[in-house]
Amino acid sequence: MNHILMVCLGNICRSPLAEGILKNKLTRLGLPGHVESAGTAAYHVGERPDIRSQEIALKHGIDIGNQRARRFKVGDFDRFDAIYAMDRSNYSDILALARSKQDAEKVHLILNLLYPNENKQVPDPYYGGKDGFQNVYDMLDSACERIVGEILIKDNDKQ
Ligand code: 4NP
Repeated sequence: MNHILMVCLGNICRSPLAEGILKNKLTRLGLPGHVESAGTAAYHVGERPDIRSQEIALKHGIDIGNQRARRFKVGDFDRFDAIYAMDRSNYSDILALARSKQDAEKVHLILNLLYPNENKQVPDPYYGGKDGFQNVYDMLDSACERIVGEILIKDNDKQ
């Protein structure tokens, strides 16, 4: 229940932030859940998050320095209930690995949580400056707030 995977390209900028932000919200609210992140590419496997992502997270009281980049794998469809892609390219790369309709239905563009069906993307901040990371942080914070809201509604319905 509530096993959530965040996916971007390198797993060093956007998805580690999304993982850290969502974990932080779940912990603060005492909600059950398991959150990981992964990249569709292997360039940075084993690395810590980009220092700019670490810094922006720390500025908001979240330490993501212990994360290590890994690549998305087909087995992730079995381990997670929802897989959130940061951009349309990540989304189609993940979908290309889906083995069934059930796998495919787990994959969503994360910003569709905020702007349904608009297929907006979390911009890749890797080649940009610090502002890009703050912008990404703000988007992901709002999206993760929505995920928490959905979990709360789901849990409430079960009672
Ligand atoms: P991320 O950002 O997908 O948000 O982790 C990137 C990190 C590295 C590269 C591209 C995007 N790269 O080309 O190495």
